[in-house]
Amino acid sequence: EKGGYEHFMLKEIHEQPNAIKDTYRGRLRVKEGIIKMAGVDDNLERFLNANRIIVVACGTSWHAGLVAEYIFEDLARIPVEVEYASEFRYRNPVITEKDVVIAISQSGETADTLAAIKLAKSKGAFVFGVCNVVGSSIARETHAGAYTHAGPEIGVASTKAFTTQITVLTLLALKLAKANGNISISEFHKHLTELELIPNKVAEALKADDHIKTVAATYKDAKNCLYLGRGFNFPVALEGALKLKEISYIHAEGYPAAEMKHGPIALIDDQMPVFVIATKKGHYEKVVSNIQEIKSRSGKIIGIVTEGDEDVKELADHVIEVPETLELLTPLLTTIPLQLLSYHIAVMLDKNVDQPRNLAKSVTVE
Ligand code: M6R
Repeated sequence: EKGGYEHFMLKEIHEQPNAIKDTYRGRLRVKEGIIKMAGVDDNLERFLNANRIIVVACGTSWHAGLVAEYIFEDLARIPVEVEYASEFRYRNPVITEKDVVIAISQSGETADTLAAIKLAKSKGAFVFGVCNVVGSSIARETHAGAYTHAGPEIGVASTKAFTTQITVLTLLALKLAKANGNISISEFHKHLTELELIPNKVAEALKADDHIKTVAATYKDAKNCLYLGRGFNFPVALEGALKLKEISYIHAEGYPAAEMKHGPIALIDDQMPVFVIATKKGHYEKVVSNIQEIKSRSGKIIGIVTEGDEDVKELADHVIEVPETLELLTPLLTTIPLQLLSYHIAVMLDKNVDQPRNLAKSVTVE
């Protein structure tokens, strides 16, 4: 059942090239130059007339929502707010009939997300679901939606659900950008073409596994770790830290790289590994100067870089390469080494990777 892998998590990490293909199959039509999503086509006016999009989710799905915020605003120029479902539902949120709420949930059973949906519906918002589990409560409770089609995710630590959620949300953003005229036809085509190449590039990124294992062995005894990223990769830093925390029980924090100087830099010493997402294009020079700041305080630097990178390689203690792609698609690649790192560290520390302590696969309590 684990398909020859030692753990479900490792199997699911390696399933990502195919899972992403399954997500865009039938939807991404490069030759025709269209994206087909029935749940969006049937409700296009709701999306196009929206004042804003509010994303509600928890955990890793919330991180996918944050990536989507950057992508929606960049491509479709629609304002987006991303909310923890648990916070959203318990304050007195301003929701109107002109809002579109996107609920993201792998399991489709998360109690807080479900309650946030019910609240949004009662205020007249249009609610769109992005779920993996077909026929789940959230899938049934939303007005329309798009499944991720990632296949069953058994490992408690979410992996392929994350990358397929980002894939669906990217398709949605591109579709809306085309419909509202915020993207040129040539840019639209470029994005479709690049998105289609992502599964092969994820497969390429997975090949760094042996190297990642040696990096994991170097840092497995750390007590604390920092994860930094900017722009589209800031949420990936949060996700990297969450993955490490939940399966290895090492304390980790994700931060926007530029926020370092507002506090966390005080933590840096030679005992602190800092994982920095430093792909080309994404404010690269700025990230390089953040790396210099860490280095001058003796922090250990592990850079997640674009293939062929020279500058970060010179500064960092280790680099892990991912293939080049459009900046807004980089989260689909930079996530991969961070998943593998957490996995290997947890295995080396002899932790229960698929069922970490205190956690359940779906959180149906409030
Ligand atoms: O099923 P959901 O996507 O609604 O679950 C949300 C979170 O409980 C989930 O992502 C959790 O944070 C994972 N264990 C993270 O790996």
